Amino acid sequence: MKKPKIWNNKHLLGLKKLSADELTCIFDTAENYVKYAGGTGQKTDDLKGKLVVNLFFEDSTRTRSSFAIAASRLGADVIELTAKASSLSKGETLRDTARNLEAMGIDMVVIRHSAGGAPYLLSQNIEASILNAGDGYHEHPTQALLDIFTIRQLRGSLEGLKVAIVGDIAHSRVARSNIWALNTLGAKVFVVGPPTLMPSAVNKLPVTVCHDFDSIISEMDVFNMLRVQSERIKSQVFPSTREYSRIFGLTNNRMKRAKKDVIVMHPGPINRGVEIDSDVADGPNSTILKQVTNGVAIRMAVMALCDSVK
Ligand code: CP
Repeated sequence: MKKPKIWNNKHLLGLKKLSADELTCIFDTAENYVKYAGGTGQKTDDLKGKLVVNLFFEDSTRTRSSFAIAASRLGADVIELTAKASSLSKGETLRDTARNLEAMGIDMVVIRHSAGGAPYLLSQNIEASILNAGDGYHEHPTQALLDIFTIRQLRGSLEGLKVAIVGDIAHSRVARSNIWALNTLGAKVFVVGPPTLMPSAVNKLPVTVCHDFDSIISEMDVFNMLRVQSERIKSQVFPSTREYSRIFGLTNNRMKRAKKDVIVMHPGPINRGVEIDSDVADGPNSTILKQVTNGVAIRMAVMALCDSVK
């Protein structure tokens, strides 16, 4: 694709530094790819002849398959590599792994890693485009882009919308990417959860902190419900799962007090009955599967835009 004037980023490492015009450029580009995202089997040749490596050091269902589908719909070839099935398990460094892959002529690396900054490290060491598929607690930019793209489709603009991000903010890269981009686009962001699941520097983020979900239920336009990331939590941060669900879960009862057209989001995977009731997750306000479908269009857009800079 021809490089849009506004777009000069070879990599997508995070959303913190992207301007409103750059974010809008991604969304406008994704609109053109929506028709390829829903299983029609249509393809473009925008990345024909390009080689993409999916390098995943943490488990994933949605992001990994979505990037692979997006690359395939763009006409690129995709190689899948996990830490266990590569020579990383024999002690090879991430830098050496990437440099060896580059010696075979790759054009793009999609990386998920438990260490914040791993995508940045790669971007400093190889020529290929680096796309962050989630790094530690730092950022998960394509997840936030697909979340916000979904809101934009339903509301037209983000300006002035009240968005509650609810749950485990401390361990959430999804929350951080959403906070940066929503703020840039003029939304008002509320982070909701127990003090034990807030980042220590939460007061430095452009958000309103709230520990009483019920007090803001009726004024929100969007609920983005986060999973409690038990795999990253070392001590007990709330008395019991039942207690957590009672205070911070999006239940049928809470939905009765919400705006009729409130948008209910979740990045997945869902813990049904913990952060969200099953009826709500599958209900008329839920956009959870629409987000997943939009993820393909967003990832197609990001891949095509980053490739257009080279
Ligand atoms: N939302 C998300 O990142 O899901 P996966 O972990 O399945 O990729």
